[in-house]
Amino acid sequence: MPLFLRRLATVASAALLSAGLVSAPAAHAVVGGGTVAVPPPWLAAIGTPAFFIRPSGQFCGGALVAPTKVVTAAHCVDFLRAVPNLLAATFGRADLSKKDGESVQVKSIWVQPNFRETEFKGETVEHHDVAVLTLSRPVLDRVTVPLIDRAGQYPPGAPAQVYGWGTTSETDLVNDRLRGATIPLVADARCSAAYGDSFDHRDMVCAGSTHGDTCQFDSGGPLIVQGRLAGVTSWAYGCAREGYPGVYTRLAPFTLPLA
Ligand code: ARG
Repeated sequence: MPLFLRRLATVASAALLSAGLVSAPAAHAVVGGGTVAVPPPWLAAIGTPAFFIRPSGQFCGGALVAPTKVVTAAHCVDFLRAVPNLLAATFGRADLSKKDGESVQVKSIWVQPNFRETEFKGETVEHHDVAVLTLSRPVLDRVTVPLIDRAGQYPPGAPAQVYGWGTTSETDLVNDRLRGATIPLVADARCSAAYGDSFDHRDMVCAGSTHGDTCQFDSGGPLIVQGRLAGVTSWAYGCAREGYPGVYTRLAPFTLPLA
């Protein structure tokens, strides 16, 4: 199913939930971790006012790596390539129902040319899932996050930080608070065991456990390793499922157009 349809379906259920027509099961907590009162200065909520079902129109995350450049997931923005100025990056807003922080319009969208989608057990598998948004004006007053370099390593078991405004479990669809969690990097071999050929270690890296994971609407958000942007939240089979870690775009091998 095309991504925007899948999103519409998610959104329709979110609408039912907020209207109180169906009840949400108790949320366990991004999954795991805790709320973050003050977002990291470089963390962006990516959204569009047209996506009115979610507060602030948010549907993905992103990270400011240069004054006009935000790294996010290709699958978040590919379908909006023709209309970049519908998109905005919002900084400094922990609670999406508020109006604080600053929103900056997007001027153009670069999508990794080899981005493509396949399927694993009904989930969309994202390949080469990275995009760069160019903002309509530079954000000069915010600290940017350094990108991992080409030689950057992803040692299994090492702690990584993830952030997002996404759902706190597979069934809680109404979260609008920023959450963060520290989760372990997962060895490529374990990830291949889970996902077979769908996992490609050349452009993907796994992280997380049943205790901590990203989930829907966290896509495009950062995976931070040793203070550097090392990955982008991309896909998984469900959220926080036993044996199915989250899959992140492995950024080290990519050359991004940041000039
Ligand atoms: N594809 C999801 C999104 O668009 C992100 C899924 C990440 N899932 C996970 N279990 N780590 O927001």
